[in-house]
Amino acid sequence: MSRAEPVFAAARVEKAFGTLRAVDGLSMAVEGGEIYGLVGPSGSGKTTLLRMLCGLTAPSGGEARLLGSAMPRERRKVEERFGYMPQERAVYRDLSVAENLLFFGQVYGMSRRRIAARTAELLAMMKLEDRRGQRADRLSGGEKQRLSLACTLVHEADALLLDEPTIGLDPALRAEFWDYFRDLSSRGRTLLVSTHYLHEADRCRRVGLMQRGRLVAEGTPAALRTLAGEHAGHPVGDMEDVFLVLTRSEGDAR
Ligand SMILES: Nc1ncnc2c1ncn2[C@@H]1O[C@H](COP(=O)(O)OP(=O)(O)OP(=O)(O)O)[C@@H](O)[C@H]1O
Ligand SMILES: [Mg+2]
Repeated sequence: MSRAEPVFAAARVEKAFGTLRAVDGLSMAVEGGEIYGLVGPSGSGKTTLLRMLCGLTAPSGGEARLLGSAMPRERRKVEERFGYMPQERAVYRDLSVAENLLFFGQVYGMSRRRIAARTAELLAMMKLEDRRGQRADRLSGGEKQRLSLACTLVHEADALLLDEPTIGLDPALRAEFWDYFRDLSSRGRTLLVSTHYLHEADRCRRVGLMQRGRLVAEGTPAALRTLAGEHAGHPVGDMEDVFLVLTRSEGDAR
């Protein structure tokens, strides 16, 4: 029996901006139902990789595939099967909370009835029920973020690319977001999530550490701890320390 295609796959993918290689020959694959965490210093190429994987920007070399389709060439085939939450939150400021969800639902070709049902569910989940009629530009930062996530989830996509979805949220809300991500993954959804909160990496099945456009380490949180311990010469338990040890040792290697 042939193995199912990965949900997200990069094969020696590259993205050059002038002389800068924002993503530099990176290969990875994320299987169905996984939560894969993407970490790495600012500017290491996380957003650029996510954008290539969902066809928002074309690779300069190599191949990016989503649900078996080559991006961006075959993007249309999978347009309704993925959701992307960009780092710069994309909600319409002059629409209300409910109108934003209606707009995104319509973009994905959902019926009004289904949008109404999803809106009720998502507003409850994101604790935005009492903000339903509020214009998006009057929401607090965290409320805007919850709305942005709700818009990404409205069409119940199989594959989710979330670029720093929890940045700026209070700890209780971050924990709730992660409980929700785990719930999505237990229902077969696949999540690729970038984050700078390294303890969130512990909630992922696998973590990829990017540096200067490359994947310099990848594995389960436990495997990355072991690797960092080998580099450091002593046990490393805290994910922040794992990150520091592994990015430093990669820097030394250059
Ligand atoms: N459109 C662009 N034009 C030129 N350079 C770009 C463009 N987009 C990104 N870059 C550069 O590519 C590199 C990678 O950027 P990217 O946004 O992918 O990093 P990141 O890992 O997501 O960073 P952060 O954690 O700060 O969000 C950076 O040096 C950035 O300045
Ligand atoms: Mg980014």
